[in-house]
Amino acid sequence: MTDLSIERLEQLKNTAWIGTRLVYDEVTDSTNTKAMRLAGQGAPHGTLVVADRQECGRGRRGRSWEQERGAAVAMSLLLREEELQISRAPMLTLVAALAVAEAIREVSGLGVQIKWPNDLIHDGRKVCGILTEMQPQTDGAAQIVVGIGINVNNRQFSPELTELATAMSAAGGREYDRAELIWAVCRQFEHFYGRFMQTQDLRAFTDDYNRCLVNRGRSVRVLDPQGAFEGIARGIAADGALEVETPEGVQKITSGEVSVRGVYGYV
Ligand code: BTN
Repeated sequence: MTDLSIERLEQLKNTAWIGTRLVYDEVTDSTNTKAMRLAGQGAPHGTLVVADRQECGRGRRGRSWEQERGAAVAMSLLLREEELQISRAPMLTLVAALAVAEAIREVSGLGVQIKWPNDLIHDGRKVCGILTEMQPQTDGAAQIVVGIGINVNNRQFSPELTELATAMSAAGGREYDRAELIWAVCRQFEHFYGRFMQTQDLRAFTDDYNRCLVNRGRSVRVLDPQGAFEGIARGIAADGALEVETPEGVQKITSGEVSVRGVYGYV
């Protein structure tokens, strides 16, 4: 597979500001960890870190992220934004989810849905996960890393993921060019991020997000550390919270440690 190399990424680059500094490794520990390390060394806003393989890829809630060599996308984007209030940074996960959904559609024509807040789903199985991490700074801009893992041409998954995960190639019946997909994600992210930064919330595209939302109108189980409950997911609000209708009224769920599951399965 020759679709990823620094030369090929540089050759296809067509973004306004993402990837001005571009770092590519065949193997790294985790692109998120590396992007945060580079931030500590003064890497600029828009730095993009891509790897063909991660030895310690990380998912949400301390889970690991599996990545088949030569087949998947692992990319992390560093944002240093003096204007951005750090409390609003978790919304960037939703911005990225929408950007990836649009990019996958652009490159492959595949329709994917979003499982709030950070999973992209095709036919009930996960095709992409997003991990946003931040380091508030005592002075200056917060350092935020948005990490995106996409199953592109994966041929197999470990036994525990076989039923839960899928790849774009399995869904579309052909392989896709990872470099092309990476830049499509970056261009879409630039578009939605620009709109997000105008108001520092999602009001400009809650409808777009809700149209992609797989949970919408479905029974969900909210695994809140304070106590699990069930309701019907209605969509997201401008602050990115998921609104869930329960007999006691509408509950607003913010991502944090809360997990939302379909009552009858993963979605
Ligand atoms: C999840 O679904 O739990 C989030 C998975 C995020 C995986 C990506 S791959 C690129 C970046 N580097 C990491 O270590 N994690 C994210």
